[in-house]
Amino acid sequence: MADVTSQGSPDSTRVQVFLGKGGVGKTTMSAATALRLAEAGQRSLVISTDPTPSLSHIFEIDGEHRERQVSPQLFLTELGLADVRHMWDEKFGRDVYDVFSSFVDVDYGSFVQFMTSVLPGLNEEFMVDYIRRLALAARYRNVIWDTAPLGQTLALLGMPSMLAEHLRTAPRIYTHLRTTGERKESVMEIIGRWRDLAADCMAFLRRDVTFSLVTIPEALAVCQLDTVLGELQRYGLGIGRLVVNNVVQVTDSPFLAQKMRQQQPHLERLRDRCSGVPIVEIPLFPQEVRGAERLRAVGRLLLPDAAAGAQQ
Ligand SMILES: Nc1ncnc2c1ncn2[C@@H]1O[C@H](COP(=O)(O)OP(=O)(O)O)[C@@H](O)[C@H]1O
Ligand SMILES: [Mg+2]
Repeated sequence: MADVTSQGSPDSTRVQVFLGKGGVGKTTMSAATALRLAEAGQRSLVISTDPTPSLSHIFEIDGEHRERQVSPQLFLTELGLADVRHMWDEKFGRDVYDVFSSFVDVDYGSFVQFMTSVLPGLNEEFMVDYIRRLALAARYRNVIWDTAPLGQTLALLGMPSMLAEHLRTAPRIYTHLRTTGERKESVMEIIGRWRDLAADCMAFLRRDVTFSLVTIPEALAVCQLDTVLGELQRYGLGIGRLVVNNVVQVTDSPFLAQKMRQQQPHLERLRDRCSGVPIVEIPLFPQEVRGAERLRAVGRLLLPDAAAGAQQ
């Protein structure tokens, strides 16, 4: 597994993904990483696929964001479900609709909405594909992907097997059908393209993406981390780094001293569970992490050597 600062050849795009349950600090870590790398002179894109994105809130900017420039080397994208539907629509929508509309009376908009909400793993697959294509285009030195909370993460990891299951049964249903559009592509060919896309996405995740797991030293978060680690292992994906956020490091109050004691067994379990994986501990700050100054403080802890990395 590639390390966080030296993956790939000098000109390739390095992709990092932050995974973890809701509220542990994925968006904060993504934003801090992107800012740190951007300020080290590396053109960086931070992209959120969380349905309730807060990147713009963290960077204290308003409005719609699609590859919006935040500072000279830093760009931000918030990718919603509508964007994913559009991508599916572009790649497969018309072809598959041609088939379905020959025996089901449904308008195209409802059809796309239906397909993208019922097919397991579809949204995740298209998000991975979007990021894969961004990486291929090599317009950025770094792409940092802030994922949605755990449910979506697991769907992402389960994508290939769920899709394979769908594809296993699909030929029986579709095999005798032919598309009616001008291209006359057979349904099996469409399914074949779909399968290729899933395989490309999985290969990309395995080969070109560094996964950082974010957690906090609390019982529930540590339990869920076990689940994510198990899933990653099952799909042959390794983790590059564990980020333990909200670690109490100051003990000048009885309240904090007690909290610190409570965190100890969880920290030990995390270190034990992830031995061999680099662990970064981020302190619990007295205030939320918003704005460049606070993000910089987190970024320095996450990537102490980023400035040297910029010279590569
Ligand atoms: N180390 C920290 N100390 C204090 N507040 C933090 C810290 N890390 C994150 N936060 C705050 O916790 C909240 C949730 O963080 P966020 O990054 O949005 O989590 P996620 O993206 O995993 O849901 C935000 O208000 C953020 O500012
Ligand atoms: Mg978030």
